[in-house]
Amino acid sequence: MKRFYIETFGCQMNVHDSEKVIGTLEQRGYVQVHTPEEADLVLYNTCSIRDKAEQKVFQRLNENRRAKDKIFGVLGCVAQQEGEKIFEKAPHVRLVVGSASYPRLGELLVQIEQGGGRAAGLNLDTDATFETPVTRRDNPYRAYITIIEGCDKDCAYCVVPFTRGRERSRRWESVLEEARTLAGMGYTEIQLLGQNVNSYRDPQDAARTFAPLLEAVARTPGIRRVRFTTSHPRDFGRDIVEVIDRNESVCNMVHLPVQSGSTRVLAAMQRQYTREEYMQRIEWLKASPRQIALSTDIIVGFPGETDEDFRQTMRLLDEVEYDQVFSFKYSVRPNTPAQQMGGQIPEEEKSRRLAELQEKQRQIQLRRNTAQIGTVQEVLVEGFNLSLIHI
Ligand code: 5AD
Ligand code: SF4
Repeated sequence: MKRFYIETFGCQMNVHDSEKVIGTLEQRGYVQVHTPEEADLVLYNTCSIRDKAEQKVFQRLNENRRAKDKIFGVLGCVAQQEGEKIFEKAPHVRLVVGSASYPRLGELLVQIEQGGGRAAGLNLDTDATFETPVTRRDNPYRAYITIIEGCDKDCAYCVVPFTRGRERSRRWESVLEEARTLAGMGYTEIQLLGQNVNSYRDPQDAARTFAPLLEAVARTPGIRRVRFTTSHPRDFGRDIVEVIDRNESVCNMVHLPVQSGSTRVLAAMQRQYTREEYMQRIEWLKASPRQIALSTDIIVGFPGETDEDFRQTMRLLDEVEYDQVFSFKYSVRPNTPAQQMGGQIPEEEKSRRLAELQEKQRQIQLRRNTAQIGTVQEVLVEGFNLSLIHI
């Protein structure tokens, strides 16, 4: 019996990729264990969105470098970004596979199993999506469905176009079939996943875009909740808001990353929208009778961000009043256009801006949450946390 251990870093795309990798391994007779010590094959599914995330993986590999009896593998975004350099940095690693090569995972495992030394899957130039007949989902109520992989947006700060390849949508029918299968298995909540879900287009019929797909999934009998993440503001049409308005089963929450409140910084980031265009989308969402909850991502300290640019981001928080904000200090990433830009902001200044922004958002959220006290809400119980139960 071959035993494997997998640890996942990064976003929901990675979490779901790991579920598919687990399914592929189980089909090949591997059994999952929950510590690296018990395993013959140890996999890290990695994230390289910011420098800190990437460092974590090399730390893990270093902790394990003396375990000679195991096969180590690096999957995901660090694998794609660093490629075969990983074999030099961590010589005990024998498998390096980027997410665009997961459809070849079975074949690469055979190479390893047959004692062929090392195997790497690093080709980004693919139009294949990673679909497996078996996906091991741990949550019995909510299931992820990938609808689009890769990214064509080329934001100046971002590694994703280098780590996940070009944008490729999954076939419409294949998505709906998976939704029906999941409903048949008793799942009630579906989360549609992609780097830019709203850029979705059926590869066989370009008229089938994201809004009609969302509606079709929402109307699958048995499915009570549908969420989707992440949306790019440029491709976020009013038709998506109309689908939310019409379908109770689409959750009334939207994550719409703005990144900055300054049009000047947005242009430098190559985001392809202005502050005004972004605010237009927020107005559509706010006009919905369903009270749509809003969340966003913000980067502070992008090269050239002046104090006035930052003030505009702070004002945007006041105007929108998000329910949740994920905020980050800009982190220089290899190969990205922003790496070469002048006007890099000192670390202390980035930290100062981040702290100020987070304090503002804390106050906004406190106000919004307080307003909910005494209201009645429907909740989906996904499980219970034993550590909270005191007998
Ligand atoms: N530095 C800091 N934050 C980044 N993000 C993406 N790239 C970087 C970077 N180089 C943030 C963006 C994105 C979120 C997933 O991570 O806000 O929306
Ligand atoms: Fe991290 Fe981005 Fe890769 Fe997700 S796609 S794992 S956030 S680098």
